[in-house]
Amino acid sequence: MAEQLVISETTDRATLYTALFPQVKALLAGENDPIAAMANFCAAVHHVFHWHWVGFYRVQEGQLVVGPFQGPIACSPIGHGKGVCGVAWKEARIINVPDVDAFPGHIACSAASRSEIVLPLHGRGGVVSAVFDVDSAVLNDFRPADERGLAQLCSLIEAILP
Ligand code: SME
Repeated sequence: MAEQLVISETTDRATLYTALFPQVKALLAGENDPIAAMANFCAAVHHVFHWHWVGFYRVQEGQLVVGPFQGPIACSPIGHGKGVCGVAWKEARIINVPDVDAFPGHIACSAASRSEIVLPLHGRGGVVSAVFDVDSAVLNDFRPADERGLAQLCSLIEAILP
């Protein structure tokens, strides 16, 4: 397993995702513990993109409970359909929020968050069993390239979800 990520000096997101994917894949190879995988996954994504908060919530007894993350302390638990995370879970689709202040019901864990993207993760049987949440301090920070790049990365975690 590599000890550090090798990422070129660029701000082009598509280039960063292309460089990051095989390295995260190698990092997680042979890892069957979802919590351990999520922890290293968050560290890698945070290291490369420097977003304000990146982390997982796992579905536990009908709520989203915070899992491994990087960034400030987080709100937990989150109900089904509540906040951006709860909507991504309920609707089982990526929710890309350019301006969190314009999203009805947004849960403000940190006043520094300006935009947010949440991806649902499907476990065995196709049920959403976790979400991956990214908060940015920059307004309108997430593009289709992020949706594609993050979804591809998240597929590495989905592969080991129960
Ligand atoms: N803003 C999220 C809550 C989680 S934090 O951003 C870490 C939401 O509205 O669901």
